[in-house]
Amino acid sequence: MKTIIEPFRIKSVEPIRMTTRAERQQLIRDAQYNLFALDADDVLIDLLTDSGTGAMSAEQWAAIMRGDESYAGSPSFHRFRDAVQTLAPFKHVIPTHQGRAAEAILFAIFGGPGRMIPSNTHFDTTRGNIEASGATATDLVIDEGHDPASLHPFKGNMDIARLDAYLSEHGDAVPCVMLTITNNAGGGQPVSLENIRAVAATARAHGKPFFIDGCRFAENAWFIKSREPGQHDRPIPEIVRDCFREADGMTMSAKKDAFGNIGGWLAVNDDDLAEEARAHLIRTEGFPTYGGLAGRDLDALAQGLAEIVDEDYLHYRMRSNEYIIERLDALGVPVVKPAGGHAVFIDARAWLDHILPTEYPGQALAVALYELAGVRSCEIGTVMFGRQPDGSEQPAVMDLVRLAFPRRTYTQSHADYIIETFEELAAMKDELTGFRIAWEPRLMRHFTCRFERLG
Ligand code: F0G
Repeated sequence: MKTIIEPFRIKSVEPIRMTTRAERQQLIRDAQYNLFALDADDVLIDLLTDSGTGAMSAEQWAAIMRGDESYAGSPSFHRFRDAVQTLAPFKHVIPTHQGRAAEAILFAIFGGPGRMIPSNTHFDTTRGNIEASGATATDLVIDEGHDPASLHPFKGNMDIARLDAYLSEHGDAVPCVMLTITNNAGGGQPVSLENIRAVAATARAHGKPFFIDGCRFAENAWFIKSREPGQHDRPIPEIVRDCFREADGMTMSAKKDAFGNIGGWLAVNDDDLAEEARAHLIRTEGFPTYGGLAGRDLDALAQGLAEIVDEDYLHYRMRSNEYIIERLDALGVPVVKPAGGHAVFIDARAWLDHILPTEYPGQALAVALYELAGVRSCEIGTVMFGRQPDGSEQPAVMDLVRLAFPRRTYTQSHADYIIETFEELAAMKDELTGFRIAWEPRLMRHFTCRFERLG
């Protein structure tokens, strides 16, 4: 069959409150044009993030009832730890309430003034945690990763030559090497198994521990299986284990590829590092057998980890994304290609080329999508990355808008509605104007800054 159907049926539904275009124009003006400030009830299709927004399965809800809320030694923790280690065989698994808490612990240990931490592309919270410690975060993705039109199959790959030069140049200042799979901030693009191995070898050659930010490891493994020579016939869990076996540890947001509404973990092999991390954990998150989570959350995640590596699910997930990308491409909307895992990324700088990067074409597109159709998306560009640690403002490498798809949540007709929205926008895009930032906080401004519309 040509149609890849959603491999599930729906047992419980959440109504969407319909709004008019005039209402939405008022609502977004009241929110000072920051989509994070909208009430979720005022959104028709919420593509702000795929993080924690997915639907749990009947088995996960059943696991919630199995959850044991003992403070110490809960069997829920043992089920969670075993499920993590089945896919990511690290010696120590330290639960946290979400990914950034794992990052905060890791960089409380590895960060600090003068330290330098390379990755393909650090996600914003990772960068935030590194910079808040006084350290510097450096992105070393391959050049193709900066070119929305390049069809390279693994645009999330690290540039190995630059990594090697970076490690030679900065030597002792570098406490560890990071790698984000898939590369969210770079368009949700995957990293090949070959590249993961090369990063591991380069880090090892320089005596540096290697950490994977594994948020979307199952999607990354699907891309390895479908795009990397020699991987087609291999089961997804084996590919996942091959990826993590290369690393000394990982940070994880279980709100992505663990089908969780909340959760995360830090996993490491080194005993001393684990001890230090657990000391931080106890101070900031909780006892090591629950971290920042309830026992029932740990059980839901254990079940989610068993479900996320299902190939029917991954096939449907990737095909849904491809479907939208193919149709937007046919409409002439510049999209990041090839299709990434969790999101469709629009090249707003190219599409709205009458708006300067410093007037935020991504924000202009995101606001227009909401006003026209009630679709909430996220700017990933100069609003998110433009403010430099020295206080200056620079255009980001790209001005993208991300439509991130919650897992198992929306259907084909939602996808068709989104495509139709872009058809209408294409006719009026030249009338869109840019924005200026009227107020911003010191760090991670995109969450809370306020905008004024130009023109
Ligand atoms: N690393 C990556 C690659 C991420 O995408 C995220 C979160 C995190 C770390 C932090 O995890 O949210 O559990 O604290 N990304 C979400 C997003 C927020 O919308 O892409 P967290």
